[in-house]
Amino acid sequence: MSNIKAAITAVGSYVPDHVLTNKMLESMVDTNDEWITTRTGIKERRILKEENKGSSYLGIKAAQNLIEKANVNPAEIDMVIFATATPDMPVASSGVYLASQIGAVNAFSYDLQAACSSFLYGMSTAARYIESGRYKKVLLVGADKMSSIIDYEDRATCIIFGDGGGAVLFEPNTEGYGLQDEYLRSDGIGREFLKIDAGGSIMPPSEVTVAQKLHYVQQDGKTVFKFAVSNMADVSEKIMKRNDLDKDSVNWLVAHQANKRIIDATAKRMGLEEEKVLMNIQRYGNTTSATLPLLLSDYEKQLKKGDNIIFASFGGGFTWGSIYLKWAYNS
Ligand code: UT7
Repeated sequence: MSNIKAAITAVGSYVPDHVLTNKMLESMVDTNDEWITTRTGIKERRILKEENKGSSYLGIKAAQNLIEKANVNPAEIDMVIFATATPDMPVASSGVYLASQIGAVNAFSYDLQAACSSFLYGMSTAARYIESGRYKKVLLVGADKMSSIIDYEDRATCIIFGDGGGAVLFEPNTEGYGLQDEYLRSDGIGREFLKIDAGGSIMPPSEVTVAQKLHYVQQDGKTVFKFAVSNMADVSEKIMKRNDLDKDSVNWLVAHQANKRIIDATAKRMGLEEEKVLMNIQRYGNTTSATLPLLLSDYEKQLKKGDNIIFASFGGGFTWGSIYLKWAYNS
């Protein structure tokens, strides 16, 4: 292994202005604020209302926020990875467009799709490019316009998801800060439980697929919940053990914001107190590829150089995993 570690050196984020509250959802589907709050922890989510704007718009705004805050010269960025489950269009790559729009004129770029684990997997990919010594600045952006694939007449899904974007910059570090270890998993058994049936190569779009609402996300929530609780907790516990970490040496859990009950179960297995668990699901819902960088952005001021952070996610596919990272700066 090289002595170069991939450190996060800057973060940025963006959420659209429009707020969709639980109260508003009560007038759209048969649900109520009390059910949504107790079953998920969500109070409101953001929705991108502007026409002709897709996930790249959210990602561009998040990347620009990072560039301004950290005073990064976009021409020095070597690579842009765009983690998203809702690309602007099936072809061409949204990441390529994003990179050009932010002025990353010397970068190459592509999209990375692993449902709700897209950003976590993207962290792993970004880190390899840095650790190899080949690239010095890798921008990882996670953004999803989930509202573009949600049926707002389906109470099983429309209460959960929201739109948002986040970005982090990875740079080489030789002082020991950055990504330390990872444990990533996937299992195709999950394909049946969280999916969009139509619009891909198996079932291209047609009048029938539109009439039957097959372009929206469908989820067997109970089954996904069961897998998420056990798997996210398992990998987080495993990565702690093999890095000799305990509840005192872990400073923060940065977990995918899918359901507060899943996050609480993971934290409990890790033995972590509530204060160490970053949480913003109440404000944004599940923003898929944006949950992890949105947490880093919201809590950036509280993160201190040397803090031990465990990232964890679980998503469709199934895809899941855990990453151990040492935070590299004080802001
Ligand atoms: O990020 C990608 C990974 N995704 C996830 O991790 C999501 C995992 N799943 C979940 O978070 C939860 O399963 C949900 C939040 C989706 C659902 O919560 P649940 O506790 O599993 O509820 P359920 O589906 O078992 O439904 C319980 C009851 C049912 O009524 P009956 O059959 O007990 O009378 C549902 O019909 O709640 C009913 N229900 C609702 N009631 C009010 C389902 N959705 C709603 C709703 N409002 N929106």
